[in-house]
Amino acid sequence: MIKTIGVLTSGGDAPGMNAAIRAVVRAGCELGMKVYGIRRGYNGLMEDDMYEMNLRSVSDIINRGGTILYSARSSRFKTEEGMSDAIETCKRRGIEGLVVIGGDGSFRGARDLSLRGIPCVAIPGTIDNDIGCCDYTIGYDTSMNTIMQMVDRIRDTAESHDRCAVVEVMGRGAGYLALSSGIACGATSILLPEVPYDFDRDVIERMKRTQKSNKVHFVIIVSEAIGGVEEMAKRIQAETGVEARATILGHVQRGGSPTAKDRIVASQMGYHAVQLLKEGIGNRVVAMQKEKILDFDIFEALSMKNTVDLDMYKMALEISI
Ligand code: F6P
Repeated sequence: MIKTIGVLTSGGDAPGMNAAIRAVVRAGCELGMKVYGIRRGYNGLMEDDMYEMNLRSVSDIINRGGTILYSARSSRFKTEEGMSDAIETCKRRGIEGLVVIGGDGSFRGARDLSLRGIPCVAIPGTIDNDIGCCDYTIGYDTSMNTIMQMVDRIRDTAESHDRCAVVEVMGRGAGYLALSSGIACGATSILLPEVPYDFDRDVIERMKRTQKSNKVHFVIIVSEAIGGVEEMAKRIQAETGVEARATILGHVQRGGSPTAKDRIVASQMGYHAVQLLKEGIGNRVVAMQKEKILDFDIFEALSMKNTVDLDMYKMALEISI
């Protein structure tokens, strides 16, 4: 059985990462493993910036957003020199396996390290929900709920002034957050990268149609992959006569205490990762599919594709008019 493992968080942080770290540390300690907490993602691995964790190192973190191990996106780790430094650190510390919590960029690093003889298990942690092999990524639920709460606030003021709120939400190149929050907030239009749009038809005409049934305030959700909300607000005002305001929600979407769902899924995934590593099984991605926790080969996982549910999009259009 593997005796020493490390855990790191990499890429954009996501609420629930702490719950995953907690599960890894607790499950590892229960098996008698030495568990290193590696700071700032792969940077900490290259620079040997880590500390030994114990059962109490992860007390009172299940409820906290962010990551107690800090996170980073590392370009040096992609170089031959960076990779050798990381492997050197693992050898020096006796690290025989790693848990990497992050997005698909972090998975590539885990794959490369696995290829060089350090078994890695990756856990999907990103608010974007954009990992092909997974129905769900840690942080998505919290972010979706944060967006909903923020848009509810914006809606209060839009309603008071008969305005149109044009809100940009995160998601990198994927529209999961835009679609889900658009449905949850009853947005009149939702613009996401997976569905080609025509601004006149999909925004202006829809607004005009709802105006005929006496609707006077509106919410439009726009994925950051499309952007341009300031311009859109100007165009809406000019073409519909409805005063419009643009809001870019920004990093508020990535912070905050994780929801129950994120804490539970993160705990399950962290636990599962350690059960794989204890047998020396690496080069795996832990995934959730149809509410079940499974794992896939990282190569296979990186080639799998997932996309937003277009039926949900169609439904949203029909009922938010
Ligand atoms: O991947 C998470 C995410 O928040 C994306 O939604 C967004 O595009 C990106 O990270 C922002 O990155 P940064 O925090 O580096 O600006």
